[in-house]
Amino acid sequence: MMTLFFLLLFAVVSVVSAADDAFIGVNIGTALSAMPHPTQVVALLKSQQIRHVRLYDADQTMLLALANTGIQVVVSVPNDQLLGIGQSNATAANWVARNVLAHVPTTNITAIAVGSEVLSTLPNAAPVLVSALKFIHSALVAANLDSQIKVSTPHSSSIILDSFPPSQAFFNRSWDPVMVPLLKFLQSTDSYLMLNVYPYYDFMQSNGVIPLDYALFRSLPPNKEAVDANTLLHYTNVFDAVIDAAYFAMSYLNFTKVPIIVTESGWPSKGDSTEPEATLDNANTYNSNLIRHVLNHTGTPKHPGVAVSTYIYELYNEDVRPGPVSEKNWGLFDANGVPIYILHLTGSGMVLANDTTNQTYCVAREGADLKLLQAALDWACGPGKVDCSPLLQGQLCYEPNNVVAHATYAFDAYYHNMAQAQGTCYFNGVAAITTTDPSHGSCIFPGSGGSNRTMVNGTSLAPSSNSTSSDCASQYFYGGGAFVSSMIVGISIWSVVFL
Ligand SMILES: *[C@@H]1O[C@H](CO)[C@@H](O)[C@H](O)[C@H]1NC(C)=O
Ligand SMILES: *[C@@H]1O[C@H](CO)[C@@H](O)[C@H](O)[C@H]1NC(C)=O
Ligand SMILES: *[C@@H]1O[C@H](CO)[C@@H](O)[C@H](O)[C@H]1NC(C)=O
Ligand SMILES: *[C@@H]1O[C@H](CO)[C@@H](O)[C@H](O)[C@H]1NC(C)=O
Ligand SMILES: *[C@@H]1O[C@H](CO)[C@@H](O)[C@H](O)[C@H]1NC(C)=O
Ligand SMILES: *[C@@H]1O[C@H](CO)[C@@H](O)[C@H](O)[C@H]1NC(C)=O
Ligand SMILES: *[C@@H]1O[C@H](CO)[C@@H](O)[C@H](O)[C@H]1NC(C)=O
Ligand SMILES: *[C@@H]1O[C@H](CO)[C@@H](O)[C@H](O)[C@H]1NC(C)=O
Ligand SMILES: *[C@@H]1O[C@H](CO)[C@@H](O)[C@H](O)[C@H]1NC(C)=O
Ligand SMILES: *[C@@H]1O[C@H](CO)[C@@H](O)[C@H](O)[C@H]1NC(C)=O
Repeated sequence: MMTLFFLLLFAVVSVVSAADDAFIGVNIGTALSAMPHPTQVVALLKSQQIRHVRLYDADQTMLLALANTGIQVVVSVPNDQLLGIGQSNATAANWVARNVLAHVPTTNITAIAVGSEVLSTLPNAAPVLVSALKFIHSALVAANLDSQIKVSTPHSSSIILDSFPPSQAFFNRSWDPVMVPLLKFLQSTDSYLMLNVYPYYDFMQSNGVIPLDYALFRSLPPNKEAVDANTLLHYTNVFDAVIDAAYFAMSYLNFTKVPIIVTESGWPSKGDSTEPEATLDNANTYNSNLIRHVLNHTGTPKHPGVAVSTYIYELYNEDVRPGPVSEKNWGLFDANGVPIYILHLTGSGMVLANDTTNQTYCVAREGADLKLLQAALDWACGPGKVDCSPLLQGQLCYEPNNVVAHATYAFDAYYHNMAQAQGTCYFNGVAAITTTDPSHGSCIFPGSGGSNRTMVNGTSLAPSSNSTSSDCASQYFYGGGAFVSSMIVGISIWSVVFL
């Protein structure tokens, strides 16, 4: 009786603590013209309470700087050393001796990432990939470190084909001769599948099929969620859909017990003219939401409650990386350790960069169609019951007198009237959530935490009971009232299949 009780208790405790293991880490790329010294890097990690990092190599100075910090480290076998290691057990043992055994336990190395996106970027090395993992692993076994140091290899999610609906996803079959023994190895060594997940690229490559909000973990109206017709699971973000696609692709090969860890995910904060969604706001939104999502143990629709630990790409902006502007702007910090943006993490139980507020606003989407904006403004000030009186001539928010500014005010007021509820910043796609306070001068927006907050009278924050008439609303509109306010905002059935 007693034994059973303790067994049950233990079972409950171990499930909970498994969930508590979910963490957020960061990748440390070093392609900076002024790469901070490893001691400065470690000082930044400590000040930001970052306790998990992944290195792209096994730099000795960096590993020494990380000693006795409690920070858990993933070291990597760079792709250019993979062929040698995959072809020689002795070379592998040597690599482990030099880069791992020399540093543990003072530096807490918890995993070895063997190569990076080998199948998609270095297919020539694919035939030796699994041997490389096995050779590295046997060196760890010989040193009795195999239970504390896991061996795996990060994959690009591009090896998963037909990834929506997730239940139909499978690994590119050309790679079955590698994936099957790889998964066998991961399962038998209690390791995990390492996956790089980039909703940014999925969004960019979808030609508008994937809504930005879906890539950014923003609330979608329920009728816009993507539903997997086979499983009836609802997907509210691209990240979860990709993770579940990977779970399904593994189970298609009969592997159901291999957990997933995301070795890279992020969003660039700056891009060139062909990368309009590489913005500070979007990067902040993606990474803040990603961190909350992971630490909240929401899990995915297929495996609710099973959080997928994730390494954010990346710690620093790497200014000397080749390629488009976005390539140099994935970082959370610049070379001086100054945050590129302040993440909004209140309530997530983690400080990454100082979190000042988690306030959000609803604004007119940049480049939105002016007629749709006007129709939405019309609806907000009419049936939407927003008190639009501050937009009247002579009132605080009249200037600038244009449809974008007026719609922004009305959208934000509606969004806050609705307590920022899911789907209330949509307006037929012409609205967007931002973390930047759109208040200007003495026009203070609903939800603003600005110092002028007290100047706003309560009535402007709540729907006025007698402002429902749409004909009196027409006076708030810029450019005349050519529009009928009967337009139904926020309803459009979205039944496109992603990817
Ligand atoms: C290293 O990290 C592991 C995993 O969390 C932990 O159990 C262990 O105590 C750490 N070791 C040291 C020396 O800090
Ligand atoms: C590879 O080397 C390890 C020691 O690093 C040894 O235990 C193992 O037996 C070797 N395996 C083969 C196939 O030679
Ligand atoms: C599958 O992988 C092979 C080998 O790398 C590649 O040639 C092919 O284009 C891939 N198929 C798809 C649909 O991506
Ligand atoms: C998976 O298991 C099923 C049932 O045992 C079997 O029919 C199928 O061939 C297996 N698939 C693979 C890829 O091993
Ligand atoms: C955490 O998850 C719960 C349920 O999944 C959700 O209601 C809540 O808003 C989440 N909290 C944060 C901070 O994301
Ligand atoms: C973050 O907080 C620390 C300690 O409160 C402070 O010293 C530092 O200046 C803050 N950084 C930013 C960017 O606000
Ligand atoms: C942040 O958001 C949470 C949940 O939405 C809320 O409970 C909390 O009060 C907010 N904090 C601030 C500073 O606005
Ligand atoms: C507050 O309002 C005053 C006058 O109404 C204005 O001059 C000032 O810039 C406003 N401050 C902020 C932070 O918006
Ligand atoms: C708020 O109400 C007071 C009187 O209750 C009025 O004098 C003031 O102008 C109002 N302020 C705004 C911003 O409407
Ligand atoms: C309608 O608004 C006017 C002026 O804002 C106010 O005096 C009146 O009491 C309101 N009527 C109702 C039914 O709330």
